[in-house]
Amino acid sequence: MVIKIRQLIEWKQQKRPIVVLTAWDYPIAQILDQAGVDLILVGDSLARVALGYKNELPLTLDEMIHHAKAVCRGVKQALVLVDLPFLTYQESPQQAIHSAGRILKETGAQAVKLEGGYPAMVETVSRLVQAGIPVMGHVGLTPQSVYQIGLKQQGKTKEEAERILGEAIALEQAGAFAMLLEHIPADLAAQITQKLSIPTIGIGAGPDCDGQVLVTADILGMGEKSPPFAKAYANLSAIITQAAQDFATEVREKKFPR
Ligand code: KIV
Ligand code: NA
Repeated sequence: MVIKIRQLIEWKQQKRPIVVLTAWDYPIAQILDQAGVDLILVGDSLARVALGYKNELPLTLDEMIHHAKAVCRGVKQALVLVDLPFLTYQESPQQAIHSAGRILKETGAQAVKLEGGYPAMVETVSRLVQAGIPVMGHVGLTPQSVYQIGLKQQGKTKEEAERILGEAIALEQAGAFAMLLEHIPADLAAQITQKLSIPTIGIGAGPDCDGQVLVTADILGMGEKSPPFAKAYANLSAIITQAAQDFATEVREKKFPR
């Protein structure tokens, strides 16, 4: 990994947009890295897009580490960061340090991301940072709280917007190196981006963030339920279907092998 965390602040200051995509295995990671993506996130969305769980909640730390190791084997340039799975960090700062420590020691990733900016989570971020573990914050729509808040846009009311802004500021003060903003109004994301000195990475958060991320399955046209803010740049499921059907036809008609 050649891209360093301190580079991100420079990119924000230079207004050079930061490109982030998710990866869940070796070939995807290798392709994204060679394509010049800046940051590769082993997001817990892999629970859905790689493992077929209905949401992020069932993913275990061992499953995440297994996938993060494969991703890191494929990456030479990009900075790799890994989501802490649901209930592998919410219990206590100790639990968070233990889980994040395993990720850094066992996978080769440089940083972790965790959800939430309520006071106990701010304290956890501060403890992780003091232990030498770089942390990206994540506010707005936090999919690990799906049973509480669903998957709808957050921060629409004035009170909610103020709470989210306050969480982002508190996480920055706790030492987070960047802030993921998911599914919030564009003007709120712009306001947070202007207030923070660390970079914001948006998903469904409008054009004024310091960087953008999408789930790679969605840009490839492989996502099962892509969110409204995603964009498909390819239709890989159609390409794979066609290849499998062509192979099946040639085998059945005894045209392959020849
Ligand atoms: O898990 C994930 O893919 C994420 C993205 C929404 C950024 O956290
Ligand atoms: Na995630």
